[in-house]
Amino acid sequence: MQKITAAITAVGGYVPEYRLTNAILETMIDTNDEWIKTRTGVEERRILKDEGLATSDMCVPAVLELCKKRGILPEEIDCMIVATVTADMAFPATANIVCDKIGAANAWGFDLSAACSGFLFALTTGSSLIESGRYKKVVIVGADKMSAIVDYTDRTTCILFGDGAGAVLLEPSADDNGVKDSLLKSDGSGRKYLYQKAGGSLKPASIETVKAKEHFIFQDGQPVFKAAVKGMADAAYDLLQRNNLTGDDIAWLVPHQANKRIIDATANRMGLSLDKVMLNIQRYGNTTAATIPLCLWDFENKLKKGDSIVLAAFGGGYTWGATLVKWAYDTDSANTPA
Ligand code: UT7
Repeated sequence: MQKITAAITAVGGYVPEYRLTNAILETMIDTNDEWIKTRTGVEERRILKDEGLATSDMCVPAVLELCKKRGILPEEIDCMIVATVTADMAFPATANIVCDKIGAANAWGFDLSAACSGFLFALTTGSSLIESGRYKKVVIVGADKMSAIVDYTDRTTCILFGDGAGAVLLEPSADDNGVKDSLLKSDGSGRKYLYQKAGGSLKPASIETVKAKEHFIFQDGQPVFKAAVKGMADAAYDLLQRNNLTGDDIAWLVPHQANKRIIDATANRMGLSLDKVMLNIQRYGNTTAATIPLCLWDFENKLKKGDSIVLAAFGGGYTWGATLVKWAYDTDSANTPA
């Protein structure tokens, strides 16, 4: 039997309108534009400000855009995986809420928690569903409303994060293009450096946890930085090696947007010049699971059918990895239904 490959056949995205600039942050905490830009590369982030809106409300426009581009109805979606650490609520899954909101009545869905590597983990999981031959249309969403868990008095974290959602459609490939290989890793011993202390079963919410600000992100930046530089660069390099590729064979690196310095180190290790690196950290900051699909969304018209691209991420958990994709369509055909 011929092996089925999962191809990305459409991309959608959404970022909220409100821009939290470095200049605004300068009025809120002891920081400055120069420090933020030099240390991280971030200039502004988008924030979902409106009362009563959640992560699912950013997933909805992203998935609907993807359906429109591909010319399919939400009812045609077989499965929806939402990678997020800021689910609308502890349960049910945000994926179920998104399916309900868009009318994806024939889909089953679930959330996947792998922090900044969530999109890569979900892409690999979704590809396996396509490769099994059982499913024809699987939607992978990376979405986070980081502003819901950011302490805007903590200058070491609030400068980093933003809100957004990106989505891709996976379908059986019509040719050799698609998701070719994935090298994914996790190491739970890194959990003490980047996590949310309370709100789970270990430390349920209480007046004390709220007073101690334990429902916000805690990050010890330097160990995470060191592990991220090594983890993301090693995974991307090892992925190239085991596929007998060099940087010259790669059209684009699509890196998780946590810190421009981590991205530069990864490109350098792969032997890639920076003009082959998708970068939008300056506009959105770190949107956790959404960074990679939002890069694909922003740079879609630069991608050509047959391009080899490497997606790479590192995040809380620790989780990290790299995925090799051969791009399956030219942009001018992006809006053309199959
Ligand atoms: O996506 C999930 C994975 N996360 C990451 O990959 C993030 C990894 N970590 C990082 O990107 C970096 O560690 C940060 C950007 C978070 C911090 O950069 P850094 O170069 O590691 O700075 P640092 O923590 O060593 O702090 C250097 C100095 C400190 O002052 P002193 O002790 O040298 O006087 C900080 O207090 O910078 C100070 N500082 C700030 N100054 C102005 C920390 N935050 C700020 C700030 N504005 N916002």
